[in-house]
Amino acid sequence: MDKIIVKGGRKLSGELEISSAKNSCLPILAGSILCSGEVILHKYPKYDDVTNMIEILQNLGGKSKVQSQSLILDMNNISKFEIPRELASLTRSSIFSLGAILGRVKFAKVAYPGGCEIGARPIDLHIKGLEALNVKIVDRRGYLTCDGRELRGGNVHLDFPSVGATENVMMAGVLAKGKTKIFNAAKEPEIVDLQNFLNKAGAKIKGAGTSTIIIDGVEKLGSVEYTPLPDRIIAGTYIIGSVMCGGDITLTGVKTEHIQSLISKLDNNCCKITIKGDRIRVLSSGKLKSINKIETMPYPGFPTDLQPQIMALETISNGTSVIVENLFETRFKHVGELIKMGAQILTEGRSAVIKGVEKLYGAEVVATDLRGGAGLVLAGLVADGYTTISNVGQIKRGYESIEKDLSILGADIKKVES
Ligand code: UD1
Repeated sequence: MDKIIVKGGRKLSGELEISSAKNSCLPILAGSILCSGEVILHKYPKYDDVTNMIEILQNLGGKSKVQSQSLILDMNNISKFEIPRELASLTRSSIFSLGAILGRVKFAKVAYPGGCEIGARPIDLHIKGLEALNVKIVDRRGYLTCDGRELRGGNVHLDFPSVGATENVMMAGVLAKGKTKIFNAAKEPEIVDLQNFLNKAGAKIKGAGTSTIIIDGVEKLGSVEYTPLPDRIIAGTYIIGSVMCGGDITLTGVKTEHIQSLISKLDNNCCKITIKGDRIRVLSSGKLKSINKIETMPYPGFPTDLQPQIMALETISNGTSVIVENLFETRFKHVGELIKMGAQILTEGRSAVIKGVEKLYGAEVVATDLRGGAGLVLAGLVADGYTTISNVGQIKRGYESIEKDLSILGADIKKVES
């Protein structure tokens, strides 16, 4: 079992290129199930979740190979329709694949998904959405068995703008007969990315990025070559880290418009942020003023996937701040670990009150989930002495190598096998 060891106290400096977004790559890989042909993804990142998703595609009959930084998938022979439990438990994206498998093979059998341990993650919206497209679903013994022989376009009104449900229904609509409309759709940039990918392969989708998405069903999708979006959460993580440590870093390949909710909280508060094209420079003295209130929201609000990282920042800021987690009910598992490092945090339901302390102390902590783990790494960067983070498999689900990235930026951090 690997551990990450960080010695706190160094300023960050230098330049780093941001890799492709996990949350774009996963639905795009699911979307490739709809393609009868070759799918080439450039700048493909080796996050564990992405690797697991490729295994799911292989299990369905896809073939994959890697050529330098590109993933090449031969999706001509997709014939199977089952994602067994041992594969589904590896990533929550197995559930996003339902719509695509149904579109291509007309049947689907998918075990309940795995993913982050951040509270109940129901799939009722996925099921309701697919049923509105005339799919018959039986939910038994941990498997969803879906009959899509009569799949056709329909109107879907989501009670909540769920990212996964929007993507799932969008993919189911691509090869369905007729028109599908999704109302109250999620507006995340990764949904626009999925639309662009599918349209490049021959789909007819419009409206992604707004709350109404319209899909005109087509007969078939073909081959496609695509480069997924850069990862706004990884960029956000390192921006927050550099603000905590102080220093001068530049991140390249960033879509800065996708992290405006973070930039607007930090710029001219505790750092100076300069944007030039896809480059973002963060200049920080490390003297932090608490941000009064941060509430996580669906995009373009503040992302829940940056909540643990911004909480790490608030633990050492000057003053008191309140964080309200609106997306996931138990996404505060990192709080206990931050407290072990000397943080002063009180939680009540979905709210956390953080009183900034002078210093955090190195401790042995556990990455409780993917983004919570990233938050602990950031805390380790500023803590006095050594912090050891175990269960780093959680972090590797969405960061190819957080320790390499941060070492490039000057941090004293390494991964060790224990
Ligand atoms: C996606 C992201 C994840 C991010 C989250 C919210 C991917 C691979 N993952 O996850 O990183 O944290 O968006 O931005 O893109 N819900 C229901 N019923 C459903 C589906 C969702 O009640 O059928 C609820 C969830 O419990 C949660 C909320 O809706 O409270 C948001 O979930 P959702 O947007 O679906 O997140 P994911 O797609 O799972």
